[in-house]
Amino acid sequence: MIPQVPERPYRSVLYIPGANERALQKAATLPCDAIIFDLEDAVAPDEKPRARALVADMLRSVDYGNRARIVRINALETEWGRADCLAFAGASIEAILVPKVSRPDHIEAVAQLVADVPLWAMMETAVVAWHAANIAAHPRLAGIVVGTNDLAKDIGARYRPDRMPLLTAMSLCLLAGKAYGRVVIDGVYNAFKDDVGLRAECDQGRDMGFDGKTLIHPAQIAVANEVFAPTDAELVLARAQIAAYEEAERAGKGVAVVDGKIVEKLHVVAAERIIARAALLGDRV
Ligand code: COA
Ligand code: MG
Repeated sequence: MIPQVPERPYRSVLYIPGANERALQKAATLPCDAIIFDLEDAVAPDEKPRARALVADMLRSVDYGNRARIVRINALETEWGRADCLAFAGASIEAILVPKVSRPDHIEAVAQLVADVPLWAMMETAVVAWHAANIAAHPRLAGIVVGTNDLAKDIGARYRPDRMPLLTAMSLCLLAGKAYGRVVIDGVYNAFKDDVGLRAECDQGRDMGFDGKTLIHPAQIAVANEVFAPTDAELVLARAQIAAYEEAERAGKGVAVVDGKIVEKLHVVAAERIIARAALLGDRV
């Protein structure tokens, strides 16, 4: 069975521009589950080499605690991509995030340069939807970020709060990731002062099955942490379902009923995953 619970929590995945030293320092104190040290679109072309060196230095000198460390490199097609790969090839980090992955060979090319670090793929182009399953199947791939801003740009979609124009592509990427047991993270919510809109988008992503949300500002962390954690009600129900099913099994039955709804083995598996996700959080807020 495909394990659909990540090895660690990824509820809140905060981007930090790789050239911003103050933000790189501050991230070590923020309650996010993961940090993306960005060398790509948040860094101006003139700043690329400085950002690469700064991020490498910060990763060596700053203790980021239990936050997962992910470095987003520039695409290999750019003049910076190869040097980015080589700078982090042996780094002690959770993943290298490869932008604008449209075909499996984009991952393979980075895998050839980076022997030991797990790879994540940004899925954010119109064409990626057709190749998502083959990319997700790559043995070095551990995670996917659905880049909704680039995706909207590529499609020519307009922003809508319900993200209807993006849902087909988002779902294909999500399905591909889930089919291979990868971590799958939702795109960013641009209006970083709008908590109500952020919460609605987090709810939508959580409902769809995303493991967490990428964020652009520290003020977004609390909402993502809350929405992507199992709720107390979900945990109570999960425990009740497991207990009821065990009771039914003892009575020689394969089906139980909780709150007027049937509980089969598949519901028990889903309930166990909710409990496992809660256990991952430990004493995190
Ligand atoms: N990570 C860590 N710290 C951040 C941060 C981030 N992404 N964004 C802001 N901060 C810090 C600021 O450094 C500031 O810290 P200070 O109070 O210690 O000086 C504090 O949070 C408040 O910042 P604020 O003034 O509200 O934001 P801003 O106007 O300086 O910046 C953005 C707003 C959107 C430009 C900034 O949040 C940002 O660059 N976000 C990331 C963008 C990005 O990475 N995009 C690529 C992927 S889509
Ligand atoms: Mg992008």
